[in-house]
Amino acid sequence: MTPVFPSSLLSFAGKTVLVTGSSRNLGYTLAAGFAEAGARVIVHGSHGTVEDARERLTELYPQAEVHAASFDLGDATAIERAFDELSEKGLMPDVLVNNAAHLGLGESGFLAQTSEHFRDIIEVNLFGAFQCAQLVARHLKAIGGGAIINISSLAGERGIHGRSGYNVSKAALDGLTRSMAQELSGDSVRVNAVVLGYVWTERWNALSPEDTQRRLLNTPAGAPSSQEEIARLVMFLASEAAPTLVGARIVLDGGLNVQQVPRDVVV
Ligand SMILES: NC(=O)c1ccc[n+]([C@@H]2O[C@H](COP(=O)([O-])OP(=O)(O)OC[C@H]3O[C@@H](n4cnc5c(N)ncnc54)[C@H](OP(=O)(O)O)[C@@H]3O)[C@@H](O)[C@H]2O)c1
Repeated sequence: MTPVFPSSLLSFAGKTVLVTGSSRNLGYTLAAGFAEAGARVIVHGSHGTVEDARERLTELYPQAEVHAASFDLGDATAIERAFDELSEKGLMPDVLVNNAAHLGLGESGFLAQTSEHFRDIIEVNLFGAFQCAQLVARHLKAIGGGAIINISSLAGERGIHGRSGYNVSKAALDGLTRSMAQELSGDSVRVNAVVLGYVWTERWNALSPEDTQRRLLNTPAGAPSSQEEIARLVMFLASEAAPTLVGARIVLDGGLNVQQVPRDVVV
């Protein structure tokens, strides 16, 4: 019998992986996971800080080949130019993780926000993700396949109060995942989404003890999802372990979506 789950399935040696928004937080940990698994990794952000991320990953994983790409996902011309450069350098990805996001904080309340603010969020989270995916999918079709993973949020199905732009962008990203999965799986391009609830980032350090407690009581697992746990799921989806797993929307949220009200509220 052939091995059911050979460890080679989780090796990314010889693969090129682009994680958008990997200059910090979740994206950085996703990039680290792929570097650890032998991939050639491209870290990305809109600022020079992406170079720091490249240096840190190179120091952590001296055996890994790490590149940096800096472009604004709200700028279609910059995206086009960046992918032309990747192509010229032979760095077109086998795996794309659409992770970067404009979180839509600030003046985002429905009545108060400007249409520019709303549009900026949609430009980055939807149009930016769409354009990267389209450019990568054309390449993947030509080379015989690969994987695209969209990082979504429960906000796409249950709005976060005061963050309409972000909520809409993630709902639309889920729709995009379904369309891409349908149209691309025939070319062996597997498209899936990971839908997140509370993710631990250093922003948790800025919460008051009361707010932290409220979040924990609102999560059946009693903890936010760690970036490493999310990375393991993303890497599974990027691997060839489940070739017919396409168009899935895998919710990794500590059970947040199955709990009607926080644990300390009696109904
Ligand atoms: N954190 C959570 O609790 C949570 C919950 C649910 C879902 N998620 C999803 O998980 C993903 C990562 O979240 P996170 O908390 O790690 O985000 P984050 O800390 O805000 O980091 C966002 C990343 O995206 C990049 N980025 C933002 N705007 C960009 C633009 N216009 N062009 C290019 N890059 C841009 C940032 O790079 P620069 O700073 O260089 O621009 C940064 O690397 C997002 O898709 C988010 O929606 C997060």
